[in-house]
Amino acid sequence: MKATAVAHPNIALIKYWGKRDEERILPANGSLSMTLDGLCATTTVEFGARSEDSAQLDGRRMEGGGLSRIVKVLDLVRVKAGIDARARVVSKTNFPKATGLASSSAGGAAIAMAASRAAGLDLDPRELSILARRGSGSACRSVMGGFCEWLPGKAEDGSDSFATQVAPPEHWPELRMVAIVCEDEPKRVSSTEGMRRTAATSPYFEAWTRTADSDLESAREALLRRDLGALGAIAERNSWRMHAAALAADPPLCYLKPRTLEIIELIEGLRAGGLQLFFTLDAGANPVLLCLASAVPRVEMRLGSFGADLKAVAACPGSGVQAIDRHLF
Ligand code: DP6
Repeated sequence: MKATAVAHPNIALIKYWGKRDEERILPANGSLSMTLDGLCATTTVEFGARSEDSAQLDGRRMEGGGLSRIVKVLDLVRVKAGIDARARVVSKTNFPKATGLASSSAGGAAIAMAASRAAGLDLDPRELSILARRGSGSACRSVMGGFCEWLPGKAEDGSDSFATQVAPPEHWPELRMVAIVCEDEPKRVSSTEGMRRTAATSPYFEAWTRTADSDLESAREALLRRDLGALGAIAERNSWRMHAAALAADPPLCYLKPRTLEIIELIEGLRAGGLQLFFTLDAGANPVLLCLASAVPRVEMRLGSFGADLKAVAACPGSGVQAIDRHLF
C-alpha cells in the first residue's frame, strides 16, 4: 500500500482569490494557469498499521495547519477506498531555496495521486483534481500539464469544481515564466487568510470576481491563439485587480515590497523598449515574468545589473502529475 507521485507547481495567469465554500475549497471565480516544468514535488504515501498519520516535508516533520490539510486529503481517500489504515507521507521538493514559489500546488497534486494509488484507487483526472483541490485550491490545476482552467462549478458538493486542460505543453513550448526572487522572507498573511479577509471585508471583492470571470474568457482566447501581447496585458491587469481588492480589505493587505515595484518598473521599461515582457504577482512580493524563451537572456542580463542577491528561475510549460516507481522510503 505504497505509491509515489511527482507534480509541478503552477502559476495563475487569472487568479483564484476568494472562496464560496471554505470547507470544500470552492472558488468564487474561475482561474487559469500554466504548470511549470523543472520544479517539482515528489511524494510517497504508505498506508499501514500505525497509530496516526505523519508527514515530512524536505526532512522536516509537519505539524499544525500543513499537517491537517494532508490529513484531510488522506481522510477523503480512506472513505473512498473503505480503509482505515493510517499513513506515512514523505515529500521532497527541488525548489531552489526561497523561490517564493508556493510548493502547495505541486505538493497537493502529488499527495492526491500518491495517496489514492497507495489506497488501491485508480482515479481519473477529474476525480484527482477534485481531491487535490480539497488540500489546497490551486493544487487542482497541477493535476494536468500545460495550461489549465479551474472551473468554479455550481454544485454545493463541489463535484463540478475541478481543473481541465485548455492546451497541452506542446501548444506553446517557447513560452516562459520567470520567477524573480527579490524577497525571501515568508509573507505575513497566507493566501488562505488573505482571500478570506478580502472576501469578508473588501468593498471591491464583488467587482474582483466579476472582472476575473470576464478576464478569464479573453485570456483563454489569447492563450489559444498564442497572442502574448494580449495574454500578458490581461494577466497583469488581473493580478493588479486581485491586489487592489486585497489592499481595500480591513485591515488592508499589502503583499508588495519596494523591490517589487522597482522590478515592475524595470519590466515596463524593457517593454517600452520593444520587448514582449509581462508579469503576474501572487500573494507575495516576488513577481513572475511572462515572455518568450528568446527574451530570457536579455531579461536575466538586466536583472543581473539590478542586484546580486536577485534570483531568476525560468520555466517552460510542464507536464501533469505522474506516478513513479522510485519511492522516497
Ligand atoms: C494568489 O491555493 O494557496 O496563488 O485554497 O486556501 O489553499 P487555499 O489557497 P491557495 O491560493 C492561491 C492563491 C494565489 C492565486 C492562484 O494560484 O490562483
